[in-house]
Formats: sequence, C-alpha cells, structure tokens
Amino acid sequence: MIQQREQWGSNLGFILAAVGSAVGIGNIWRFPYIVGTNGGGAFLVTYFIVVFSFGLTFMLLELAVGRRYQSSILSAFEKIRKRFKWIGLLTVIVTFAILSYYLVILGWILSYLVISLLDIEGSSFESYVSTIYPVFSFVAVLLINYGIISLGVSRGIEKINKFGVLLLMAILIPLTAIAVSLEGSEKGLEFYLTPDFTTFFDPETWSISIGQAFFSLSVGMGVLLAYGSYLGRQQQRSLLGSSLVIIVADVAIAFTAGLMIFSFVFANDMAPDQGTSLIFRVMPAIFTEMQFGLLVGSMFFFLLLLAGLTSSISMFQMPVSVLEDTFNFTKRRATAMVAALLFLVGLPSALSYSSLNLVLQGSQPVLDVFDMLFGTYGVAISGTVLVIITAWFMNKKELLEQVNRGSRIRIPAWAIPIIKVLMPVLIIGAIVSQLLT
Ligand code: PHE
Repeated sequence: MIQQREQWGSNLGFILAAVGSAVGIGNIWRFPYIVGTNGGGAFLVTYFIVVFSFGLTFMLLELAVGRRYQSSILSAFEKIRKRFKWIGLLTVIVTFAILSYYLVILGWILSYLVISLLDIEGSSFESYVSTIYPVFSFVAVLLINYGIISLGVSRGIEKINKFGVLLLMAILIPLTAIAVSLEGSEKGLEFYLTPDFTTFFDPETWSISIGQAFFSLSVGMGVLLAYGSYLGRQQQRSLLGSSLVIIVADVAIAFTAGLMIFSFVFANDMAPDQGTSLIFRVMPAIFTEMQFGLLVGSMFFFLLLLAGLTSSISMFQMPVSVLEDTFNFTKRRATAMVAALLFLVGLPSALSYSSLNLVLQGSQPVLDVFDMLFGTYGVAISGTVLVIITAWFMNKKELLEQVNRGSRIRIPAWAIPIIKVLMPVLIIGAIVSQLLT
C-alpha cells in the first residue's frame, strides 16, 4: 500500500518548524561568542552579508529540491540521477553524527535546568561532567526526541514548534531586558558591538561567517530538504518569502541573545572569551550571585533547552525520513532504529568528559573531535555535494520554477551558473582557509 506523504498542517506551521530548527544552541552560545572574538560590530556586517547571500541561496535550494521531489535526500538524489543515490548517505552520516553530540550538550542543559530549579549548589561543570549524570540526561533528551518524532510531522514536530518558538521569544525578551538593565552591562554591549574593521578584510572572518551561517541556518545537512518535502507538491507559497522570514528570525534571535549574554557577563565582571564552556561555567556562577538568580537561571536554561530541542528534532527527522522514503520503514521502526543507533554513537560523547574519558585523538575528548570532524568539515563537505548535485544536475527549468513559484521577486536564469560555480568555490575556500590557519 502506498501511503500518502505526511504534510505540514499550514504554511505558518512549516515556517515555525524551520525557525525552530534554525534557532538552536548555535544562536544562544555560539553566535555571541563568535561575534565577541571576531571584530564585534564589524563581524555583524560580514555575517549579514554572508547570511543574506550565501545562506539565503542555500536555503532556497534545499527547500526547492525537497518540495520538488517530495522525498528526503537519498530518493531526491536518485531522482536527479540514479547513480547519485548513495552519495546522499554522506549527508545522513554527517547529520546523524552531529545530532549524537548535540543531544549530549542538550542533556547537559537539561541537567543544569534541574540543578537551577532544585537550587543545588556547589556543583562545578567539571564535577558534573565527571559523573554518570550526563549519560542519564542524554538518554532523557533522546527519549523526548523519540516521543515527538513518533507523533509525526504535523502532530509532533509542527505542534511542538508552534508552541516552542513563541515561548522561546516570550522568555528571551524579558531575560534580555533584565540583563541589559543590570549595572555595568554597557561594557558588555561595548565589547559586543564596537566594530573592529581590521577583521573585515581577513579571509578567516569570512570563513568563520560561512561556517556559522551553515550551522545556524541548518543548511547543507538535508534537514531543510526533508522539511521542504512535507510541503505539498502543489503548494503555491513563495519559498523566497518563507526563507527570508526564517533567516530574519534566526538572525534577530541570535543578535538578541548576544545582547543578553554579554550584558550578564560584563555586569558580573566575568571573562567573555571562554568559548564552549561559557554557558556552563560562567552563567551558573552569575545566577548564584544575582537577585532572583534562581528564577533567572531557570529561565535561561529552559530557553536553551527549548531552542535546542526544536533543532534536534529537525535533525532526528532527517534520517527517519530517509529510512521511511528509501527503505520503506514504518515510522515506528524508523524512529526506534534511529534512537537506538543514536544511543550507541552518542554514548562515547556523553562519557567523553567523565572519568571513563574515552580518548580518540591525543587528549581531545570525543565530543570535541566529533564537533571538529562533522560540525565543521563534515557540514561543509556535505553542503558542497548538495549544491553540486542539485545546481549542476537538476533540470534547470524545473529548479527555477520551484524557486520562483508564487514569488514576486524572481531569480533570473543567469543566476544558476553563478551559483553553480561560486557556492562550491566559496565553501571549499572556507574549509581550506580554516585548515591553513
Ligand atoms: N541550527 C541549529 C543551531 O543553531 C543547529 C542545527 C544544525 C539544526 C543543522 C539542524 C540542522 O543550533
């Protein structure tokens, strides 16, 4: 029996789901920290240029391919050319690997939420990660993901995003207002926003922008391709319009998160350049000191949990949709299989800071190695492959029809040859420049 393909309940539901996917941990800790260490206000200019040129093109391409072929990446590639089918596996592996450690970080966030809610004091990040608790919380967020995905695209993913994205904004805005009104927060805003234009001509700034744009917009990983495939084939809404809404929301939330984080950090005389561990080491210390810190801290970690959850389900849905579309799995089997594999693959990351410290390369924890290998290089490679297969081999007329349908602003045919060459060159340039520095 051929089953009807699942679909979004409404276009708004789709847009909110895509915003939920884009807005994640990458916006709340990664973006502010990257801006702060790469030229402040000047980096914002670079980033905006990259996001609205490169990011927008990529998003459009992925959504268009998904809507056109009504299937996830393997079957879509197969429909473009039979021999391309298995190349899609590369993207599946990259997304899966990223999700495996993304869930570990999300588990840490869940634990920190519980720690703030219960007002447990004195547990440093080091002592927390060296226990078995990161494994429990990893399993907990894995099960939450499993539950949502099992409910299906419109009853699970769409519902949770509709409520999640709005709630997220409802928490972020007052938290930012509290942070900005703290004494000493001006120094943070100065650090965050004072432009240092010397970084503007540094190729590294541009490659960092491209990397951040990929990660933050959820592009290049077949995730938006799958989301686009749940838009009906005949859907008439402009993908350009939807993409612009998604991107503006993503950038606005990331920018606001930066205002919040740097106000908190500088108002408390903390060091802003601690990278990954900033939210786990510095923020809890700030909350224990401040008035109503318990409440503010719980709101902060709940915000992160929500943002991360709506992103992780989008990554989870990707391999599930591949198993359903290409291997004819039922949703139940596909979801169970992905969850079981994620548990196995994510376990080393969950244990990577513990006393069982599983070391892969030198003294680097597995989680960091995975982030480097898949989160930085894997995404870039899978993104390049995606552009090459779609922009070079898809029927040009069909592609343009998809991209321009329902849109007042039309992408001209001459844009395709430019995209075809420019996108892969830019991405590969970014990887090489990062490898060289
Ligand atoms: N965009 C998400 C974030 O900013 C991460 C993500 C990447 C989600 C790729 C889905 C696909 O955290």
